Amino acid sequence: MSGTPVSKSVSASLTRTPAWRALVAHHRSWNERRLRDLFAADPQRFERFSLEAGGLLLDYSKNLITAETRDLLVQLALERGLPDRVAALLSGKRVNQTEKRAAWHTALRAGDAAPREVRRTLAAMRTFADALRAGQVKGLTGQAIRDVVSLGIGGSALGPALVVRACASDTASPRAHFVSTPGEPLTRLLATLDPTTTLFIVQSKSFSTMETARNARAAKAWLLAGLPSADAGAHFAAVTANVEAAGAFGIAPERLFPMWDWVGGRYSVWSAVGLPAMIAMGPAAFDELLAGAALMDRHFAEAPPERNMPMLMGLIGLWHHNFCGGASRAVISYEPGLALLPPYLQQLEMESLGKSVTQKGKALRTGSGTVVWGNLGIEAQHAYMQALHQGTQLVPVDFIAACSARNGGDADTQSVILASCFAQSALLMQGVSEDDIKQQLTANGMDAKEAARLAPHQALPGNRPSNTLLLPSLTPHSLGALLALYEHRTFVKAAILDVNAFDQYGVEHGKKLAGSLLPELNGKAPTETHDASTSALIRHVLKNNGRTP
Ligand code: F6P
Repeated sequence: MSGTPVSKSVSASLTRTPAWRALVAHHRSWNERRLRDLFAADPQRFERFSLEAGGLLLDYSKNLITAETRDLLVQLALERGLPDRVAALLSGKRVNQTEKRAAWHTALRAGDAAPREVRRTLAAMRTFADALRAGQVKGLTGQAIRDVVSLGIGGSALGPALVVRACASDTASPRAHFVSTPGEPLTRLLATLDPTTTLFIVQSKSFSTMETARNARAAKAWLLAGLPSADAGAHFAAVTANVEAAGAFGIAPERLFPMWDWVGGRYSVWSAVGLPAMIAMGPAAFDELLAGAALMDRHFAEAPPERNMPMLMGLIGLWHHNFCGGASRAVISYEPGLALLPPYLQQLEMESLGKSVTQKGKALRTGSGTVVWGNLGIEAQHAYMQALHQGTQLVPVDFIAACSARNGGDADTQSVILASCFAQSALLMQGVSEDDIKQQLTANGMDAKEAARLAPHQALPGNRPSNTLLLPSLTPHSLGALLALYEHRTFVKAAILDVNAFDQYGVEHGKKLAGSLLPELNGKAPTETHDASTSALIRHVLKNNGRTP
């Protein structure tokens, strides 16, 4: 899939643009302005700083912004040519300038307008998923497949695993399993499975990732040990762009589902990488996932920046990171089905924005991507919310929740979950002053001196920003819209910073060096060829394991 390169990158350096300079001055003038005062001064603040799109509600009123902030951020977006860059992305232009490729993941959910190979692959996926779900796919001994094990890592695993956890029934048949780390995780799973009824899907765009290759070989050995013949082909399928390597491994052509170089791994859940999810949730539900993403795509393409959810989230993220000093960002979900969202967003955002040069190879003069982390909110309240409330670091938060529980869950329990979510974001914003504490403590009978002693310890500084994203309920459609929202949010920041969101050279070196250390750790090569630390560590391992270097 080739397109014409995006003809012009932005000309002026980011920090010399009028909007950036105005934002610097605006931040300097922020002074002691406090969010609780902004809310007190404007009863319409929620209406002014919230919007709905793709079925989602974004409340961004609890961020450290005013209307002037938003206007300046929008001006920055326009000065950086954001609308043109979005149009280039969505039309399949070669926006990935280092690898000279398009990043056309939106084409994967374009329905009838999708490229022919996308529609053909989706059809093949549907046929295979329907057959598996109907028990019509048999193993070598004629038994129906009951377990599907996806062997992949990074973008070849995180997306489908998230979608299965969020959308598939626990009683789905066949059961879906995901293994990324070689060794113990795979052996533990295989001990619970039957080789005659297990299918492995090797998910790897390159078909050369060391961890996945190792898992695939271990899976084949396990099958051959448990099957009556040496032909394990009936128990394998593959999702890859490397057809030759998959064939050499023994994947039958009719079990091979293609990926394309114009889809980045971390943007690929909508492609054949989503096959394990389609098998677990069913093709109709997978189509809903695609439809939700497509709805967010249309919003991203059509809404003006000041009413554009991905643009506003990306711009506010840049404001908090590059001006307010928020070096990390927490994504805290109060919907248990989104338990795997943080690791998915870690790869999506940190592998896309974790760069230090612009598209032209010039050193970035400001921060690029933040560290993204988080987990389920109810558990966060008993783990790290203390630091977010009373710590010294500014950590902007994305709170995500669903208005109603899935599958008609218990409304009272959902109210407990939502009350917790809303309480956390409200307290981060408004804080609790020392005067408030003293008043509360003395009203409860504590003497004023003791109350004054405790007040500094119990006060919450507040003025800590957060977004709240509300889904109607967690469904394939709302999940699709949510994931597309974060894909586009990521692109917005990359476009403003003029970094390439779609390559990942930083991880390639690690893959290569790890490969070179293997023979030394196996005692088959000298260990003196590295820095003193690495060589000493290898020697320590060899000694501990009774192996001679
Ligand atoms: O982390 C590096 C990376 O290349 C990711 O971008 C990718 O999703 C993952 O490794 C797996 O790569 P592959 O699908 O080629 O096995």
